[in-house]
Amino acid sequence: MFKLHVPIAATCFLLAACGGGEEAPPAPAPAPVASKPDAPALKPWKEAISDADIVKHGERIFLTKGSNTCNDCHGKDGKKGRLEQAADLTNPAAWDATKAVDGDRAKIDKALIYLISNGGKRFNESYVQDNPDAGWDWSKTDGTSYDIQMFGVTQSSTMGELKKIRKDLKKSGIDLPKDDLVEFGAKAVYQYVRSISESGDPK
Ligand code: HEC
Repeated sequence: MFKLHVPIAATCFLLAACGGGEEAPPAPAPAPVASKPDAPALKPWKEAISDADIVKHGERIFLTKGSNTCNDCHGKDGKKGRLEQAADLTNPAAWDATKAVDGDRAKIDKALIYLISNGGKRFNESYVQDNPDAGWDWSKTDGTSYDIQMFGVTQSSTMGELKKIRKDLKKSGIDLPKDDLVEFGAKAVYQYVRSISESGDPK
């Protein structure tokens, strides 16, 4: 059976898995390209990022280069930036948010994360209506609305930096879905702003 012998030997040679003398099993179907060895599951960002790390991400977001970024309007140190009207971020006592809710920290946090996520225009249009229990009262502040130049995280330079952070997190095993970029960015940069005001020079 000379004719048969040669092809079997050749198949065994290619299949390395053939046992001596056994018939060559049918070649396994080639693995589809997508099923590389499974990547380890990414951890969700809300569980995987420590408080210290979120402040570091917040600093990176705050210091994003380009125009219409936090540091562009508010200044690299949180004060004396390009826009004179931009709040001094090192002095929470002077913020509208602090006054509008009588200094209630949970209410301030909720309002400012909304403001940083959505900007002043949207805040003015929606925040109080959408959050009747927010305890927000403009009459306790010096103003009647936020300056609509307060853009928050959604401007292109900042969103670009957030996308880079998303990639970096993925490399370190952390999942930040695209849909969470604004929420993550606002929370992180707000934590950072709090860290510069609370650890800053006592006034
Ligand atoms: C294009 C300019 C601009 C950008 C970009 C901007 N802000 Fe503002 N921001 C302002 C102005 C102007 C105000 C003052 C609004 C007012 O009091 O009416 C303000 C107000 C604030 C306040 C204080 C709100 C209060 O209650 O008084 C915080 C906190 C704040 N910004 C954080 C940020 C952060 C964090 C970023 C970056 C993600 C950012 N801002 C980006 C212009 C800007």
